This record gives sequence, C-alpha cells and structure tokens, in this order.
Amino acid sequence: MNSRQITRRSFLKGMGAIAAGGTLPVSLVELAFADSSRNFTFAYISDSHIQHIKGTQFVRNWDRGLIRSVAETNMLLPKPDFVVYGGDLAQLGTQAELDHGAEMLAKLNYKYHCVMGEHDYYLDLGRYWGKLFGPHYYSWDHKGVHFIVLNSILTYDKWTHERWPTPEQRMLEMAGLDNPNGSPFMVGKKQRQWLQEDLKTLKKETPVVLFSHSPIQKIYKGWNFWTEDAEEVQALLRPFADVTVVYGHVHQIQYNQIGNISFHAVMATAWPWPYPESYAQAKTHLPKITVPMNRADPFFERDATGWQFINLKTGRIDISYNLYDNTNRTVAYNRKTSRPEDTTYQSPEKRIPPQSHY
Ligand SMILES: [Fe+2]
Ligand SMILES: [Fe+2]
Repeated sequence: MNSRQITRRSFLKGMGAIAAGGTLPVSLVELAFADSSRNFTFAYISDSHIQHIKGTQFVRNWDRGLIRSVAETNMLLPKPDFVVYGGDLAQLGTQAELDHGAEMLAKLNYKYHCVMGEHDYYLDLGRYWGKLFGPHYYSWDHKGVHFIVLNSILTYDKWTHERWPTPEQRMLEMAGLDNPNGSPFMVGKKQRQWLQEDLKTLKKETPVVLFSHSPIQKIYKGWNFWTEDAEEVQALLRPFADVTVVYGHVHQIQYNQIGNISFHAVMATAWPWPYPESYAQAKTHLPKITVPMNRADPFFERDATGWQFINLKTGRIDISYNLYDNTNRTVAYNRKTSRPEDTTYQSPEKRIPPQSHY
C-alpha cells in the first residue's frame, strides 16, 4: 500500500466519524418546497487543477481537495441524481494529470458528466480528455429538465493553431490568469449552431440548465472571466421561461441575473481567486452584477474552496455551497424578486464588507 492509499483510507475513516456526529452537509438539503414531487438534486465539483510534479508525485493539496469532495458527495443523503464536474480537472492538460484526476472521479458512486476547462484543453486540444470523458459538448434530459454542456473555452483559430511554437507553450499561455498573451474564450459558431438545433424541439416551458466552464456572461476580460460570444448564446436561451447557467473557472461564489437567465458560479476544490471587481474598476467590469453578493474571504487560503449541492425545483436552482473552511452558504432563486439570492446574507445589514457599497 502506498502512502496515498493510506491517506485516503484515513481520510474516509475520518469522514465516517463526522457523519456519525451529524455535521455532514446533509442538513443543507432540508429545503421546503411546495411541489416536492418535481424536486431532485445533483452535486457539482469543479476546478481541482490536479498538478503533476514528476513520476508518481502530484501536488498534494489539489489532490486532497478533489478526494474530499468525492468522499463527501458519496456520503450525501438523499443521494444526488448525478454529479457534474465543471472543468479544469488538470493543471497543464497532461495525460498523467487527467488520468490521476479521472481515477479520483471514478470513486464517485454516481454517474458524472464532465465540462471542459482551458487547463484540460490547450495541450492537445481536448483529445485525451475526450477519450476519458466523451464529447466536448452534449445534452440530455432528466426528469423533465433539459441539461446542456458546452465547451466555452475555445478561442480564435489563429491563436490556437498558429501563434505558438509548441502545444506546451500554448498551454502555458492560456493557463495564466492575467497573461496578456491569452485570448478571450468563446463558444464559437459551430457549437452555437449545434445549440440552436438542440433547442429547436424543446417546449418553451421546459427548464434549461446549461453547464459551461467560463461564464456565459462578460465579467472581467483581463482575467478571462469572460465569454466573447456570451450575448449570442444568451440570445439562443432567451425564448425559454426557466434558464440557469452554472459555470466554474472563476473559483468563487458568483451569482447574477440577466433577463430570463440565472447565473451561478461554483467553487474550486483547489484554491479561490480574488474578486475581479476589487481590481478591475467599474469600467471593465461587465455586465453589472444585478444581485448584491456576499463574498468569502479571498485572502484566506482555503476559504471559498469546496463543492456544491444543487437542488432543482420546478426549473430553478438552489445551490448549497459546502465551503471547506467556512460557514456553508445557500444561493436560491427567489420567485418574488426573480433572481438568485443568498438566503442568509441578502439583506444589506448581514452582508460582509466590502459588499456594502451595493
Ligand atoms: Fe480553474
Ligand atoms: Fe478555468
């Protein structure tokens, strides 16, 4: 038995003790709904950034974040219907990283669906990822809800195919958060046409939930918290009554409402990013975030890392964030205000500064 196996076993044993004590995030699902027959839940894990060092060595912190989320997800009661993995499983897209991440995900007791992240993609343009996890974009129906996965981290062909001398260089250039050599993410024409076809036969009242890695909204271009053709994708989703977009990549809790579309970001299991609005200033910060947000502390290393439990009720999402080192949070769609809100902190008095300027 190698040391990694011992660690995992000890960890799971520890989890059992926590379960007996009743402090697992099980209580997070105790949400009261009028029409409970339509409710179902799924779990969301994202941005583990599994990083290969050499040989059989990987960055242990990132491994641990993913191992923990898988273990906790497996212990949830009631059991989620499925799990979504939100992208950036790897750090530099190598086979070693993707294999190692896939091995950890294989421990999930549920079917899981994967979203492509830029860290998974830009070494071999998603070829090995595709072998492990299947198509880069796809859709399925579950209990009356239409689910869609898009690969939103594509960019201009010229940047991808001509600009860099090696695939490794291309990967490194796209892996940086604020690298001026990066290129804006986009869904692209091919997938937009596919999406249009995919949505064609759907009834307008069918709830739609779309998973992407980058936000399908323009938040901050400097860090690629951004999708260049976000408006075009949003336009395709506009005819539907209940639309939710869930995205990874930003490593922080974010929520927003644009027209009929609710947006929810999920946390990373690896590390939190700071909030671009603190740095970007209003001019580069688009769109206007329409719902004031209570934020975790980006300067506290493990704050805002974790995974999430999602309750889907009559087409809109309640998302419970299981923060590894902070109080758990729930962001739920409020039918009265037609937007997602933090159920505990939405009132201005309870909001933690610097959010008080909203
Ligand atoms: Fe990431
Ligand atoms: Fe990412």
